[in-house]
Amino acid sequence: MCGTDGCLVKCSSVSCATPENDTKDTSTTINLDHGDPTMYESYWRKMGNKCDITFNGDDSLSYFSSGKSLCWFLESKLEEQIKRLHNVVENAIVDDYYIVVGTGSSQLMQAALYALSPTDQLEPISVVSATPFYSSYPEVTDFVKSGLHKWAGDARTFEKNGPFIEFITSPNNPDGVIREPVVNGNQGKLIYDLAYYWPQYTAITSPANHDVMLFTISKCTGHAGSRIGWALVKDKEVAKKMTKFIEISTIGVSKEAQLRAAKILEVVSDSCLDPKMENFFEYSQSLMSDRWKRLRQVVMANDFFVLQKYPFQYCLFTKDFCESHPAFAWLICKGGEEEDCQKLLKEHKIHTRSGRRFGSDLRNVRINGDTSYFAGAEKKDDMWVHAAYVVRIL
Ligand SMILES: Cc1ncc(COP(=O)(O)O)c(C=O)c1O
Repeated sequence: MCGTDGCLVKCSSVSCATPENDTKDTSTTINLDHGDPTMYESYWRKMGNKCDITFNGDDSLSYFSSGKSLCWFLESKLEEQIKRLHNVVENAIVDDYYIVVGTGSSQLMQAALYALSPTDQLEPISVVSATPFYSSYPEVTDFVKSGLHKWAGDARTFEKNGPFIEFITSPNNPDGVIREPVVNGNQGKLIYDLAYYWPQYTAITSPANHDVMLFTISKCTGHAGSRIGWALVKDKEVAKKMTKFIEISTIGVSKEAQLRAAKILEVVSDSCLDPKMENFFEYSQSLMSDRWKRLRQVVMANDFFVLQKYPFQYCLFTKDFCESHPAFAWLICKGGEEEDCQKLLKEHKIHTRSGRRFGSDLRNVRINGDTSYFAGAEKKDDMWVHAAYVVRIL
C-alpha cells in the first residue's frame, strides 16, 4: 500500500552528478515520508529475553480461539493484556466494551466503516475527517469502491444533511493536535482513531470512552511488524459486524501475532508497575522529548519554518504536567500559500509528505520522527535531527 504510512521505501545513498560541478554527489537522501515506528528498538533490545515466546509444532492450529469473546478469533491472553494495559495507563475505559482484534488498526478502520455504514440507503454514506487528516483515510474508504461508503473530504466544510461517518484522530496524524468531532449533525457516527493516545506522545487527560475506539500496537510499543490492532466497541451489533468483516476478509487474525502482542503488552504493563524495571513509557517519552527539543532548537534558529505548538497538560499517567511529543512534526513554511515546502526540501534531498496529502496546504509538510536511525550515519544521529541540520542551512 505505497503512499500510506506503510509504504516501505528506505533511505538510500544516492550518487549522482550535480549540474554545477559535474562531479559525483554522494550525499544521502533522507526519507522522512513514511512513518515506521522503530524508534523504541533500543528499549526492546534492553529487555533481552523477557519478551520471548515459543511455539511448538502442535500449538495454535485451529482457526478458533479458546476464549468466550464475541470476537471468536481473539486470543484470551491478548484480551486480558489489552484490558490490563488500558487500566494501568488510564487512557481508555474497557469495562463493558467489546474488543475486536484486527490485522493492524488499518484493517479495523475498514471493518468499522463496513459496520457503521447503513445498508438501506440509496447512496453511499459520506466519510469525512477534518484537515489535516491521516492520509490513509481517503484510500481506505474508497479503495474497493464498495458502494457502502464514500470519501467526502474535510469535515469542516461538510454540509450535506443525513448520515455521515467522521474519523477523529487524537492526537492527530500529521499535526499531533488533540481533536474532537467537528461536524454538527445528529446523524453522525464517529470512529476515534486513538493510535497515539499513549503517554510518550501526549498527556493522558481522561480515560477515553467513545463508541468506537481504535488502538494499535504499532504506535503504542513500536511493534508495527506484528500487525496487531484492537477496537474497543460499545455496541454489540457493531462489534459483531466488525468481527464478521474480519472473518470474511482473513478468517481471523494470526494467533502467533496475537500471542506475541499479548507478551509485549504484558511486559509494558509490568514495566509500569514494577519499580525494578525500566518504565517503557518513561523511556519512550524521554526519547521523544529529546528529539523534539533538538528539532525545536534548530527550527527556532531558522527563519523559514515554524512548528506546531502544544499546550502543557496534566497527565494522569505520569502525574505531572507535560507537553505533547508527536511521532510526526508538522512543519509550516513561513512563506505564502504558494510556497511548495515538500519540493523545497526535496531539492535538499529530504523526502517529506506534502500537506496536500493530508487535505492541507502546499506550504505544510509532515516529517516522520518515529524511525530509529539514519542508515549509514552515526547511530545517535537520527534521521530527524539530520534533516533538521539541513533545515538550518535553508
Ligand atoms: C492515525 C493512525 N492510525 C492508524 C495507523 C495504522 O496503524 P496499523 O499499523 O495498526 O495499521 C497509523 C499508521 O501510521 C496512523 O498514523
